Amino acid sequence: MNGMECIFSRRSIRSYTGEMPSGAELDQILRAVYAAPVGMGRYDSLHVTVVKNPDYLARLEAAAGAQLGKENYHPLYGAPVLLIFSSVFPGIPTDNSSYSNCAILSQNAALAAVSLGLGACHIWGAIRALNKEPQLLSELNLPEGFVPCCALALGRTQERYEERTVADNRMMTRTME
Ligand SMILES: Cc1cc2nc3c(=O)[nH]c(=O)nc-3n(C[C@H](O)[C@H](O)[C@H](O)COP(=O)(O)O)c2cc1C
Repeated sequence: MNGMECIFSRRSIRSYTGEMPSGAELDQILRAVYAAPVGMGRYDSLHVTVVKNPDYLARLEAAAGAQLGKENYHPLYGAPVLLIFSSVFPGIPTDNSSYSNCAILSQNAALAAVSLGLGACHIWGAIRALNKEPQLLSELNLPEGFVPCCALALGRTQERYEERTVADNRMMTRTME
């Protein structure tokens, strides 16, 4: 797939076979993450956790469900891998790069997943829940000052990608000349 085909074929995948992507596939996805643009080139402000531990993922889903009062809640859709993108978090409104950097890393990984025929879905909700769970946070063993910002669920899927037609009026757009 070329770049445009990837962009127009990408969609959120929310059903997974449970089978783990290969090591080579995960390496390629990580390389796509490392190729992402990063504000001021501050690569050392970012951290990627590749969570493959099914027990951890199940406890994260349970914690998210408990916070929302939902039983049998599966916000990770049975994906066997969760890439968690964390950043140092300055906490001052003028420094707006942290979340943006993490989102861009996640989108690079999502487009790489499409090109490999793997399923992927951006996950922000469960990361909000994770940030309220000290035990789960400590198990990530992040460097001091790093905060999980977002994640990407990844895995094999039986769903197939096809280029989609996107409505031109989907978002308000104004051209100033
Ligand atoms: C910032 C952001 C947060 C998102 N969080 C979640 C999430 O927590 N769970 C989920 O299932 N999808 C999540 N999504 C996926 C969106 O729901 C999805 O991109 C949107 O509905 C459009 O569908 P598409 O990705 O198939 O084009 C998120 C997407 C973005 C960009």
